[in-house]
Amino acid sequence: MRNTNRLRPIFLTFEQWLPRWSLQHRLCCSKPVSVHSNEESRADKFKTQIATGPRFHYFVKGASINKQQPVITDDLIDTDKHAYLPEDSESGNSRTVCFETYGCQMNVNDTEIAWSILQKKGYQRTSDVAEADVVLLVTCSIREKAEQTIWNRLRQLTAMKKRRLKTRVPMKIGVLGCMAERLKSELLEREKLLDVLAGPDAYRDLPRLLSVAHGGQQASNVLLSLEETYADVMPVHHSPQGYSAFVSIMRGCDNMCSYCIVPFTRGRERSRPVSSILEEVHILSEQGVKEVTLLGQNVNSYRDTSEEQFCSSEPGQLSRGFRTVYRARPGGLRFADLLDRVSLIDPDMRIRFTSPHPKDFPDEVLQLIKERANICKQIHLPAQSGSSTVLQAMRRGYSREAYLELVDNIKRIIPGVSLSSDFISGFCGETEEDHLQTLSLIREVRYNVGFLFAYSMRKKTHAFHRLQDDVPAEVKQRRLEELICMFREEATKVNSALIGRTQLVLVEGESKRSAQDLCGRNDGNLKVIFPRQEVAGQPTDTHTSPINPGDYVLVKVHFHSAVAVSYDVFYHTESQQDFSLSIILYV
Ligand code: 5AD
Ligand code: SF4
Repeated sequence: MRNTNRLRPIFLTFEQWLPRWSLQHRLCCSKPVSVHSNEESRADKFKTQIATGPRFHYFVKGASINKQQPVITDDLIDTDKHAYLPEDSESGNSRTVCFETYGCQMNVNDTEIAWSILQKKGYQRTSDVAEADVVLLVTCSIREKAEQTIWNRLRQLTAMKKRRLKTRVPMKIGVLGCMAERLKSELLEREKLLDVLAGPDAYRDLPRLLSVAHGGQQASNVLLSLEETYADVMPVHHSPQGYSAFVSIMRGCDNMCSYCIVPFTRGRERSRPVSSILEEVHILSEQGVKEVTLLGQNVNSYRDTSEEQFCSSEPGQLSRGFRTVYRARPGGLRFADLLDRVSLIDPDMRIRFTSPHPKDFPDEVLQLIKERANICKQIHLPAQSGSSTVLQAMRRGYSREAYLELVDNIKRIIPGVSLSSDFISGFCGETEEDHLQTLSLIREVRYNVGFLFAYSMRKKTHAFHRLQDDVPAEVKQRRLEELICMFREEATKVNSALIGRTQLVLVEGESKRSAQDLCGRNDGNLKVIFPRQEVAGQPTDTHTSPINPGDYVLVKVHFHSAVAVSYDVFYHTESQQDFSLSIILYV
């Protein structure tokens, strides 16, 4: 995905985002439950056999074996200790670490998690790579271009490392995230540019990996997990103004769209327990955060099975006409319940979520978005293509007709909703007619924002093994440009409808364009630029005060450009709850 913020104006492309396979499946509860897939019962049987079979001691001559109850001592399960490393070897000893984050918002969140883990071990953070003892690149693999950027950067950093004064601690370079997972040892071996490699589920192991690297050896952990959600790692949020934060609610993806590397780099879908999400949002609210974006590869596929009472044999509801390409597991606390609980924590806190899958928008989710004032009326609905034939080749689990029916349903339930989408041009076998169908879908839906990409073939995917990447590069490019034009045209029309209308804007800070201007975002996540000024707290107030980041202001649109929307500012408003009231007053 894109660099830091998922919703950017049209035609700005963004790079994608996006843990360790273990023997253990996540179970609904500690007790066996009656409904299991065959695969789960096999896994259970296997675990029971391992748990009740002979232990390591059994094979060691002379070792005493307690046949009654095998004892696992604390130091056997304490993953912080490693017998072959001295006691404090994982300490950062105030070494400085510099993170460079590429790709999607998930990578920004991964950076916060990795930093939280290293900070606890005594590392210091720097944003100046020349100052850093350790440089960690949080990487993306979604398209070839994203990986090429990382290879170029690794060569630059290696040149820098070689030029470093011999009197200084030798610089260590690490690659974290998707690219580490995809390329594994190839990354360590090719060009010898790296000291440390950690996949998306291995950040807890970073202190150990770095300590091995400081000892002069390469270190790597690319194990994926069925369970890791970093639920207990409180990420260190780094947003410049501190008024908005991203909260990870799930990791991984089970969808296996035929073009996508994410399920291979980020592993299976798993959800963070609701209790830890609510705790983090409470803390953020107490810190004055005004906007939280719930984050995950498929946020709305959220399914928390951590508590017994969440388990049932009921299948989760899908959008009408949509199906999963995998066997959906039953039970669990679903996205609608999570969204409900999160949005009740602080009525002054805006709630967004990204990135959802169109299959998981049952009416109860849409009704909740409509009814709850602080849930933003903004939905990302990645279509990928407007042609049913291409959608089938992509293994998306829906047709053009089902997608359009969903759009109609969303617009009917949430009037004025802001819609955005992802599209891929030139996928395997895409004909000119398929492409025209995508153009017509864009015209029909009238999105506010779009993220458009030319297809980039990725090894390991279904498309790599089974389909032909047969659309020439120049045709992909031409079709991409046509999609961009269509998006621009339609988004201009949709966003023009805002002229003359009053909107609630959460102020972010000074506009990049001018120190005289401030910028913020409306409910639909469109950027709003307006003059810096003093405004009244209420329409009837005579007293005015300056507008600060984190304030909500009511503003009226004057004009809009492709990049931003310009407004007149009316007055501060204390909360989201005031929104409808303030609008009534104004009108
Ligand atoms: N080539 C081009 N775009 C891709 N995406 C995912 N995989 C590929 C690929 N191999 C796009 C999809 C997805 C977005 C995050 O990136 O549109 O929704
Ligand atoms: Fe990739 Fe499809 Fe999963 Fe999105 S839903 S991360 S496109 S496999």
